[in-house]
Amino acid sequence: MHQGRTTLSKFLIQQLQGSPEQNDLAALMVDIAACVKAISAMTSKGMLGDVLDSLDSTNVHGETQKKLDVLSNAVFINTFSMGGLVAGLASEEVDIPRYIDARDGKGRFLAIFDPLDGSSNIDVNVSVGSIFSVLRAPEGRTPKPEDYLRPGSEQLAAGYALYGPATMLVITVGKGTHGFTLDREVGNFILTHPNIEVPADTSEFAINASNERFWEPPIQRYVAECKAGKNDVRGRDFTMRWIASMVAEVHRILMRGGVFMYPRDMKDPGKPGRLRLMYEANPMTMVIEQAGGLGSTGRARILDVIPEDIHQRVPVILGSSNEVERIERYHRDYDSGTDQRYTSPLFQERSLFAN
Ligand code: F6P
Repeated sequence: MHQGRTTLSKFLIQQLQGSPEQNDLAALMVDIAACVKAISAMTSKGMLGDVLDSLDSTNVHGETQKKLDVLSNAVFINTFSMGGLVAGLASEEVDIPRYIDARDGKGRFLAIFDPLDGSSNIDVNVSVGSIFSVLRAPEGRTPKPEDYLRPGSEQLAAGYALYGPATMLVITVGKGTHGFTLDREVGNFILTHPNIEVPADTSEFAINASNERFWEPPIQRYVAECKAGKNDVRGRDFTMRWIASMVAEVHRILMRGGVFMYPRDMKDPGKPGRLRLMYEANPMTMVIEQAGGLGSTGRARILDVIPEDIHQRVPVILGSSNEVERIERYHRDYDSGTDQRYTSPLFQERSLFAN
């Protein structure tokens, strides 16, 4: 009945054959797929699974943990600890990286992950996801915290699982971005979305508009122009979406284009953004770039940011290339003072960003 369909394992054998590192990377992707199946089984039970409650504990960011956050984290940690492919791991839910004694002496990789992103959506039965990033571990020694602080351009693989009406796994090993759908009855991931391409143009943007008063002028300008629609500079009408679940947002952009923004803002001036570089921005940018889109802080390519801390935050602008390039241009205009609207005395008087 299922003959002729490409399973994840078959796909990985085709994409990653050759070197021992590639073989191990394929095996690690299979381990990650096993984690995703286990977490999918838990999330899909909803209230029946007794896993939705909040706990008394908080994670490193001070966010209240849900039972499902902790259980999903344990699924990844147990799988990686037993698998012999990972030398160390870092997670949103773990303060400092953990090192794993690879039993068979392999452990070529560092795994960095957000086990359940968007978990504040769990109560309301909106899609959530897991995000992962894979780096090369140092050879012949136990990894140290600084070994994780590599730019996203050095990721060997990245991807996410989306626990939506269907569970999907979207991965890249640096050879395009590919989507697999879980066939629950059989327990296999089947290649359903090969070589995903993000359209260069879009009329859809995603941002938490309640933060508008805290945004920097280039983002205020971009959103104002989108909202002004076809009778203004953009010459067309835009729609806005906000699911408050990064995985669902990025998935929509992969499927039909769009731009997702969680920019630098002045809500909490001590934080350069809300999203985390190592287990949100970097893996999602690799996935988007491998599908022809772009990922930027507004002022630099996300994958070129040199991390200073495993849990550091970063501004994120992700999606259709022409829109991301436009937003970068608006940042350059603002920084160089060539955008008249934002250098006029009138604007500066009103601006939250005026000195
Ligand atoms: O980082 C967690 C996250 O839930 C993302 O998945 C999502 O994009 C964002 O935070 C939502 O932020 P807000 O609560 O401001 O809507």
